[in-house]
Amino acid sequence: MGFVEAIAAKRDGGALDRELIAEFVQGATDDSLPREQLAAMLMAICCRGMNADETRWLTDEMLRSGEAWDLAADRPEVVDKHSTGGVGDTVSLILAPLLSAVGVPVAMMAGRGLGHSQGTLDKLDAIPGWSSNRDRSQTLELVDACGAAIIAQTEDVAPADRTLYALRDVTGTVPSLPLIVASIMSKKLALGVGSLILDVKWGSGAFRKTIDDARELAAALRQVAVDSGVQCQAVITDMNQPLGPALGTACEVHEAVAILGGGGDRLLREVTIALSREAMALRGRDPAEAETALVAALGDGSALEAWHRMVVAHGGDPDTDRLERPVETVEVAAAGEGFVVGCDGEALGRVAAAAGAGRRRVEEELAHGAGVLVHARIGDRVDRGQPVATLLVGARPIDRPRMVDRIRDAFHIGPDPVAPPRLILGTVDEV
Ligand code: URA
Ligand code: CA
Repeated sequence: MGFVEAIAAKRDGGALDRELIAEFVQGATDDSLPREQLAAMLMAICCRGMNADETRWLTDEMLRSGEAWDLAADRPEVVDKHSTGGVGDTVSLILAPLLSAVGVPVAMMAGRGLGHSQGTLDKLDAIPGWSSNRDRSQTLELVDACGAAIIAQTEDVAPADRTLYALRDVTGTVPSLPLIVASIMSKKLALGVGSLILDVKWGSGAFRKTIDDARELAAALRQVAVDSGVQCQAVITDMNQPLGPALGTACEVHEAVAILGGGGDRLLREVTIALSREAMALRGRDPAEAETALVAALGDGSALEAWHRMVVAHGGDPDTDRLERPVETVEVAAAGEGFVVGCDGEALGRVAAAAGAGRRRVEEELAHGAGVLVHARIGDRVDRGQPVATLLVGARPIDRPRMVDRIRDAFHIGPDPVAPPRLILGTVDEV
């Protein structure tokens, strides 16, 4: 079958064999297929889906389009964590040193910000001196030195995904279950750790807007991991409002340090502990004892010490006084009185990105002092004029009145009390 016939077969609901999927991925990697055929195949997959075999083959071919590190071959005890993305999601910054503090080493390949969500790498870059560019052996050295390596995805990891993701972005084919699964898992499997904990978000600020859709994604991701010999658990958590109170880069580092020191935001702390507990359970620890150890590490200073070790090992300066500060802060008052019934995390994330925590062009510098701090959550009572958020103005010029309006509009205030959304729905088999 030629590739045009393959596109037509998928268009009509047929299944692709492994050879055709290999040709498709090869075509994305070395330009041996024209963009219009790649795009047409993406749309056919988006509309018709893929069965479990096709999804696994697509993932595997994308993984094989580049380097595979197979860290588990040298350090089988290392754990990786991935979130399907959200706003105020500071979890990775906290979870890596926290798990290291309780004796579970972590390695993560993190990304830059995309659209309305801030990237873990960008947040860590707010730390003076921090460097995420490591090769495989340097990553192992980091794991040995501090128990927590957070590194940048290299050019050589899943190059087919870069091409296909960019094409999906401009062809309306991002929200396809098999394409999302193959994109995420090809990169996870390239790092090749033995255990993977997944935070699958559902809600208005997530890729998957309903619990059913999130469960479906969680199950599909986990299936590919398990079929590839990776121990994997997926936890489904709420993204109907920002998870943590800080949206940005330096401000999220401050929030991470607050939690690692035993304080900080309750919701963010709760999700971080739940994911860390499940990661420890994957490594054979009893979940109740794991949770006790995690809470102890946050309370007795050992998690904060692990953070210092991690920052220093990555070349960074752990003194939070050296993080860039906002040039100005603007409090944003509630538009009316009543109860917060909705909080548009996507809109707030876009403001934080526009203010300086994200890029409008690939080469644009971030303004690390910029961001948004959220003071009110769904279910909270607010009075007219009460600050619901603070705009952190960074070194980038912005339309301040417009940003303030956008922040205010993101908080929906109603007359009747509402229950806060359930934060942690459970692991994929419980939901
Ligand atoms: N994250 C990815 O890396 N790829 C997707 O397709 C979606 C989320
Ligand atoms: Ca200091």
